[in-house]
Amino acid sequence: MGNRQKLVYIETLGCQMNKSDSERILGILSSIGYDETEELRDADLLIVNTCNIRQLSADKAYSRLGRWGQMKEHRDIKIAICGCVAQQDAEKVFKRAPYVDLVFGTHNIYELPNLIKRTETETNVCSIHKKQFEADETAFTPVRKEGLNAWIPIIEGCDYFCTYCVVPYVRGRQRSRKIEDIIQEAKNVVKQGYKEITLLGQTVDSYGRDFNDGKTTLALLLRELAKIEELLRIRFVTSYPTDITDELIETVRDLDKVYKYFHIPMQSGSTEVLNRMKRRYTREEYLNICNKIRSQVPNVTITSDFIVGFPGETEEQFQESMTIIDEAQLDYSNTASYSPRKQTPAATWKADYIDHPTKKRRLQIINAKVKDYSLHSNKKYEGKILETIVEGIKIENGETILTGRSINEKIVHAKGDFDESVIGTLVQVKITEGSHWCVKGEVV
Ligand code: SAH
Ligand code: SF4
Ligand code: F3S
Repeated sequence: MGNRQKLVYIETLGCQMNKSDSERILGILSSIGYDETEELRDADLLIVNTCNIRQLSADKAYSRLGRWGQMKEHRDIKIAICGCVAQQDAEKVFKRAPYVDLVFGTHNIYELPNLIKRTETETNVCSIHKKQFEADETAFTPVRKEGLNAWIPIIEGCDYFCTYCVVPYVRGRQRSRKIEDIIQEAKNVVKQGYKEITLLGQTVDSYGRDFNDGKTTLALLLRELAKIEELLRIRFVTSYPTDITDELIETVRDLDKVYKYFHIPMQSGSTEVLNRMKRRYTREEYLNICNKIRSQVPNVTITSDFIVGFPGETEEQFQESMTIIDEAQLDYSNTASYSPRKQTPAATWKADYIDHPTKKRRLQIINAKVKDYSLHSNKKYEGKILETIVEGIKIENGETILTGRSINEKIVHAKGDFDESVIGTLVQVKITEGSHWCVKGEVV
């Protein structure tokens, strides 16, 4: 190590799993003398943590590298790429971007100290092998972003191989973390002052299945975590529809600290399309799961994801994605138009590809629907009281407004008389107005 602290700039693209990985990467780098900087021009090491879910995300990664490559002509910096594009492209990255010093995959972040050292004497260092490195998690502390919420990954990878999706290829098979390790990490973050945790996994509700011990489930984990006294809130994302058990629904209903919130991507409202996507449920089964949750958990919020323009999707099948939003009362949905991904089966169905203008039109139509439904969903709460965790306060036109999250995952803006000390506490908010993307009210 030199006589001054080195600085790392990390840009994170993609999902919360990637954001959580970046926090771990910063923790590991801190143990070898790197501090994070938000200033690109100060950094000695630049890292882009990439997402590969759609072509646009992957393109973004290479455009960052391009810009950084130009900076390298004038300054002595190291450039690294990791995450889901790095995992799939491996050495091919160097063909497109020869100035890159280090490519490391999604299973290789614990090797970083050694990899960084190698870049001092070698060019084009690459480590993407998938053998899980037995990490000593106590050797470093993730450098988390400030705020109330801490992300805790509980499952890596995915076993489902939906025909459009790159995740199993870039993140590997499902591996649940040990329950003791998760509980310990939760206790640590609470000690650091975090009030809320978000448990992460691509199919988070299948937690523990790979242990085959007949007892470790997400419900059990939630019950254990709820015992941590100063922890106020727990959420989990993302749920796979058919892995939501009665035990899980009852646990969400019964534990006060657990968000009354399920994110359950449906992807398509058409059973035929679901079949070709290799999702393991029909339209009716998805609907039944939503109905069951609504009948058990009052005020529950259910959100979803949809892909439009999947190969072969007819106009009628697209309309089935529109109608399910009403039928299943989906409070909000993320939407995307289908993007072919390398290695995935659907990408080879070229004859069935939907043309770009059609995909674009369907996306606009479904987005308008989602926006309408979101307003409708938020209006349902007018007159009701929602318990809210306060995330921040701001002054607007001389009035103090707090921002926070209700127990059913709505963004809340509320008027009241309070100061900074209210941040991180629970308040009761009477909702007076539901708007498109939030609910507004007054603290009671
Ligand atoms: N594990 C989650 C989804 C993870 S990927 C699940 O099973 O639902 C996040 C979202 O990206 C998906 O829900 C899907 O809507 C979208 N997505 C994934 N692959 C895509 C592709 N090839 N084209 C467009 N959208 C895609
Ligand atoms: Fe991708 Fe399907 Fe796994 Fe979700 S369940 S990560 S969509 S393969
Ligand atoms: Fe993207 Fe990888 Fe997440 S592909 S969505 S960053 S798991």
